[in-house]
Amino acid sequence: MHHDIRIFQLTDIPGALELCRNSGWNQLAPDWERLIKHEPTACFVMNDGKKIIGTVTTTCYGTQLAWIGMMLVHEKYRRQGIAKALINTCLEHLHSRKIRCIKLDATPTGKLVYSQLGFRDEWSFHRWQRESHAQDDRNMVVVPESDAGWNLDLDKAAFGVARGQWLKRLANHSRVKRYREGCGMVREGYLASYIGPVIASSPETAKHLINDLLASTNRTTFWDIPQPNRNAIALAHHYGFQPVRTLTRMWTGLELTQCDLDLQYAISDPGTG
Ligand SMILES: CC(C)(COP(=O)(O)OP(=O)(O)OC[C@H]1O[C@@H](n2cnc3c(N)ncnc32)[C@H](O)[C@@H]1OP(=O)(O)O)[C@@H](O)C(=O)NCCC(=O)NCCS
Repeated sequence: MHHDIRIFQLTDIPGALELCRNSGWNQLAPDWERLIKHEPTACFVMNDGKKIIGTVTTTCYGTQLAWIGMMLVHEKYRRQGIAKALINTCLEHLHSRKIRCIKLDATPTGKLVYSQLGFRDEWSFHRWQRESHAQDDRNMVVVPESDAGWNLDLDKAAFGVARGQWLKRLANHSRVKRYREGCGMVREGYLASYIGPVIASSPETAKHLINDLLASTNRTTFWDIPQPNRNAIALAHHYGFQPVRTLTRMWTGLELTQCDLDLQYAISDPGTG
């Protein structure tokens, strides 16, 4: 193959956004910027000499866990081994950093690529969607900076490892709601508002959080819910969401980092877990 893989630069964002639009993904420029700024030497693009034809990102949470995300290949260049080459570049990089567990969230097509590269299924989740309630005409509620704390101990119990630095970056582009027993965010995307992460130690707290987060948007809303969290699914039904896509969480590495799905009412994003 005569295409080049190189480190993703901030100037690559317009090209990456074009791939997002062509594949119907929800990301905006700040989503890319956040990923690149967090891992400036560990996100990659495939270039054909003129334009970007493939992207991938990695996000490390210490050395215990890392995520691979944003795997997109230009339609005209598919089935030429580009995704495989990009993933192998990520794996090489993450192995050099001695990461013990590597996870990703796979679309059905992505799964066909990753299962050949040694990734195994962990659990599946659905993307749930609620159509715009524009007639409500509710104003956006922007939570002041001082309220934008996060319950880091509970988050670690839910997610499996500490991810405070990443959450801080995410909070800068999100509306954050926090109670003593849980916290949640909602941020804007190209197609829809996106709820996540939402972490709560009881269904009652989760309900308050979801209620508050939904009250801050009148747009179509996406919400990615781990299939094993039945309380979260009941809330999604209650608030009028429908499942629209299935994704599979997959992993590879020395040992699986465990998480507590009873505490996870929304993942943060398929690109970062
Ligand atoms: C999924 C995606 C990234 C794959 O990119 P790609 O460069 O075409 O993948 P590769 O050429 O490296 O595929 C490697 C192998 O995976 C399997 N595979 C990939 N795409 C496949 C498809 N559409 N149908 C069946 N098998 C497929 C094949 O075995 C392929 O090897 P082969 O072509 O020699 O048979 C690309 O289809 C894409 O961007 N899709 C839209 C966005 C998306 O779903 N991204 C994945 C996020 S998890």
